[in-house]
Amino acid sequence: MLRIFKFLKDLLLFIPITFLAIPFTKTFQFLFYFNSLIRWIQTNKTGLLLCDFYTPIRDYSKRVRLYEFVANHFHIENQQITYLEFGVASGASFKWWLQKNKNEQSTFAGFDTFEGLPEDWGGFYAKGDMSHGLPQVDDKRAQFIKGLFQDTLCSFIQQHTDTLSAPNTKIIHMDADLYSATIFSLSQLYPFLKKGDIILFDEFNVAMHEFKAYLEFTSNFYIRLKPIAAVNNFYQTAFVVD
Ligand SMILES: C[S@@+](CC[C@H](N)C(=O)[O-])C[C@H]1O[C@@H](n2cnc3c(N)ncnc32)[C@H](O)[C@@H]1O
Repeated sequence: MLRIFKFLKDLLLFIPITFLAIPFTKTFQFLFYFNSLIRWIQTNKTGLLLCDFYTPIRDYSKRVRLYEFVANHFHIENQQITYLEFGVASGASFKWWLQKNKNEQSTFAGFDTFEGLPEDWGGFYAKGDMSHGLPQVDDKRAQFIKGLFQDTLCSFIQQHTDTLSAPNTKIIHMDADLYSATIFSLSQLYPFLKKGDIILFDEFNVAMHEFKAYLEFTSNFYIRLKPIAAVNNFYQTAFVVD
């Protein structure tokens, strides 16, 4: 049997008739990740502390309800936290967490090109969309790191190893929309993740982007992220490192 497979594989490498399927590759890929997402939702929709699945109406403002729930459930308000946000844009979510947490020792870092998306996203947004410039924030605990995550995160990690390794809770907010940006950031932060850290995804149910990154990250790094709360049919989903 093994010899037949080997022979067929070598034959196809020599005569690549599978090229005929190239026009359908994206569709097959999409179906794979979309079906994986549906299966994931079916498995995980019960047992969450907050979940609105299924809701026929998507309401983006519900994400604040999710933040509020997570902040209250984990008593974030007065705790020393390390908050890292990937995809800041105008700073709406960044400012929400900054005003929510009152601990003077907390640190907040927001990463973004601040020149918009580095590539097209989802067929509706083009490279350069969501460009806002640096948000104005008057809080010495906050800093913004301008540039591609792929260019800025490694040196940030080197400079802040102590902060990232500290025992206080990290809140990592993934809101870059893109698969590339999400998988890169999670992979770099992996060595610093510890039980109890919180990871928020802002577009979790987008099959070929944040969901794909989540799926690959959790399976390739053998890490379990436990879903705890979700709104808008898992569009915004919060996890805790298990
Ligand atoms: C949806 S917006 C963020 C929204 C924001 N969190 C809010 O609450 O309003 C996504 C942002 O991710 C940024 N982004 C995506 N990929 C990036 C990358 N690889 N490096 C830096 N920024 C990136 C874009 O520039 C964009 O501003």
